[in-house]
Amino acid sequence: MRILRTIAEVRAAVRDARASGGTVGLVPTMGAFHDGHLSLMRAARADNDLVVVSLFVNPTQFGPTEDLDAYPRDEARDAALAEQVGVDILFAPTPAEMYPDGFATSIHVTGVTEVLDGAARGAFHFDGVATVVTKLFGIVAPDVAYFGQKDAQQVLVIRRVVRDLNLDVRIEALPIVREADGLAMSSRNVYLDADARQRATALNRALDAAAAVHAEGEREAATIVAAAQRVLTDAGIRPEYLELRSNDDLRPITRIDGDALLAVAARVGGARLIDNHVLTTS
Ligand code: PAJ
Repeated sequence: MRILRTIAEVRAAVRDARASGGTVGLVPTMGAFHDGHLSLMRAARADNDLVVVSLFVNPTQFGPTEDLDAYPRDEARDAALAEQVGVDILFAPTPAEMYPDGFATSIHVTGVTEVLDGAARGAFHFDGVATVVTKLFGIVAPDVAYFGQKDAQQVLVIRRVVRDLNLDVRIEALPIVREADGLAMSSRNVYLDADARQRATALNRALDAAAAVHAEGEREAATIVAAAQRVLTDAGIRPEYLELRSNDDLRPITRIDGDALLAVAARVGGARLIDNHVLTTS
């Protein structure tokens, strides 16, 4: 595996792979790898001739009061894990390489960015995500890019950008990888102390409780959300949001009649956690 720092080096490596007819898979990440990240890399490895993983803690998607400085960083460990799963290129640029002096462009998506995390964190967040991912697509020109359903809204935002800007890349969204007790894996789980780590399991248990009510035939959004809310309340967690929305465009729904996204965000101990389940109705 090669660790590359510059855009020019990545372009040259990709050009060589393409010249011999190879396909290119890209996995954008901010590092602190866990099995969620590795599942994306394994899928990219299985599907492509060249696998590029980007490791860049993107400053523009963090707000001034968020955890940019504290965000876990361990490039040596990440490089070893990426190499183990067969990644070819780890692209780990500096902020100056990605945002040189005079950088002045931002991709702003309306609609799907205006609710859930876009509302809770602020518009800057998905502007930062959309801009850096569009840059990575421009740098790597992948055939396929891999994202996790853990960040369901992020997947919808990226799909919107790809469609609206006619980007020639296929987006693959892969399932949420969880700890044995159901907690969705996240780089931010390292912020949880023992008590918070235990309470954090309530997020997935709440979503499970709602899914069970839905599986029994309940279709009223308020009743399904209330089942999840009870589990959170019992665990002493007050969510930033707990909402059931249409899974294709995040419009609010009062009664389920297609696929619905039940999404939650909550501060537990020192961490801001998100999780979601898709409720499928045939
Ligand atoms: P990061 O949080 O590092 O996540 C990188 C990718 O891993 C994302 O697509 C995310 O959805 C996926 N992922 C994280 N936890 C997962 C889990 N438990 N199961 C499955 N997939 C999981 O998301 C970002 O970075 C950034 O916003 C980025 C897209 C790199 C742009 O900066």
